Amino acid sequence: MATSAATLSVGTTPTCNSKPCMLPKSNLFNLRFNSPNYFQCFSGLKAAASVSCESESSFLGRESSIALRDSFTTCVTRKNHEPVLCQQPQASSFKVAILGAAGGIGQPLALLIKMSPLVSAVHLYDVADVKGIAADLSHCNTPSQVLDFTGPAELPNALKGVDVVVIPAGVPRKPGMTRDDLFNVNAGIVKSLIEAVADNCPEAFIHIISNPVNSTVPIAAEVLKKKGVYDPKKLFGVTTLDVVRANTFVAQKKNLRLIDVDVPVVGGHAGITILPLLSKTKPSVSFTDSEVQELTMRIQNAGTEVVEAKAGTGSATLSMAYAAARFVESSLRAIDGDADVYECCYVQSELTELPFFASRVKIGRKGVEAVISSDLRGLTEYESEALEALKPELKASIEKGVAFANKQPVAA
Ligand SMILES: NC(=O)c1ccc[n+]([C@@H]2O[C@H](COP(=O)([O-])OP(=O)(O)OC[C@H]3O[C@@H](n4cnc5c(N)ncnc54)[C@H](O)[C@@H]3O)[C@@H](O)[C@H]2O)c1
Repeated sequence: MATSAATLSVGTTPTCNSKPCMLPKSNLFNLRFNSPNYFQCFSGLKAAASVSCESESSFLGRESSIALRDSFTTCVTRKNHEPVLCQQPQASSFKVAILGAAGGIGQPLALLIKMSPLVSAVHLYDVADVKGIAADLSHCNTPSQVLDFTGPAELPNALKGVDVVVIPAGVPRKPGMTRDDLFNVNAGIVKSLIEAVADNCPEAFIHIISNPVNSTVPIAAEVLKKKGVYDPKKLFGVTTLDVVRANTFVAQKKNLRLIDVDVPVVGGHAGITILPLLSKTKPSVSFTDSEVQELTMRIQNAGTEVVEAKAGTGSATLSMAYAAARFVESSLRAIDGDADVYECCYVQSELTELPFFASRVKIGRKGVEAVISSDLRGLTEYESEALEALKPELKASIEKGVAFANKQPVAA
């Protein structure tokens, strides 16, 4: 019998107030996306994906079974290589498209989404050929289908019927570059992809990863407005990586359990516009002034830390894929009816005088249900000053995006 057990958890935000329900105990390889309370957030076990194995040494052994409890119509049990189908309750079945799926972020993100029990199909789209990536990914024995779409002619079909579109298409930073240096290339890429989203899946949640997020989200909003399909509740700039980094660095510094730490990060997603609100860290923890300064700067410059370490070969990809997978999973849980989904993200907002601002939001079936204002109350002097200091830069980035979109004709 297998003796090893491992758990992968994506995301750490404790969001659940409902009563915990007990998970069955077993020696399983458990995949858990999102909050540690993910399973507790559901009245039943809605989405527990577990792969059990009976081989002596590895979960890829001769006798293995995949049991996707309460999530899928069928499960496949392999005994002596004979597949046996057994009935399971009905699955949630959402379709997710990744635009830029051949890239450094796109590939690991596709893998993580393929592992989600909430997903029935992963659509991979890129201007580079994604056939091989799709063939490779499709051999993973999780239930979702993998479909490949290469080049603009196949983009409409990549988008039709999807619930969430994730956009990591574009060029990444090289050492010495700011995120804004990517504007000239990525602005046009995001504009053309959003035109296709507007034409083919205007109801989908849109997750924008391509930098500079502070400008690409306003570009997307303008394009969607011109197409007459803008729903501000469904357009998100993905800033989850800032939260993931803040949680990691604070846990390390304060010797806390990683899974317990939650630091809201507000503002935008570049340099000083990234503002971790360390005073709002949960669990409550105190920092010296120099710790606040050091942690804030590390979180703001964490992307550059990776760009420099990769020495010209790209920017954060694996941690970004992890963060993006967490945000996709949160969105799918919200669409699926979980009433307790909160994430920090960059959205249209009235929290400040700026039209777009990253903050904690409550996500529901139809997108943003509420922008949470409480995190911005009772800030420390350091945080209040940093908030005021970030506004001019964020405002300029938003205006740059809007001006770009308004100069460009939108494809009919
Ligand atoms: N939001 C964040 O926190 C965050 C973090 C890291 C990186 N990023 C950004 O994500 C983007 C992608 O980074 P990466 O490391 O995956 O880059 P990459 O170069 O490895 O991959 C980008 C992919 O996009 C594809 N692509 C280019 N133009 C396209 C188009 N018009 N349609 C479809 N696909 C297209 C490329 O072929 C490539 O496969 C960059 O803009 C980077 O700055 C954002």
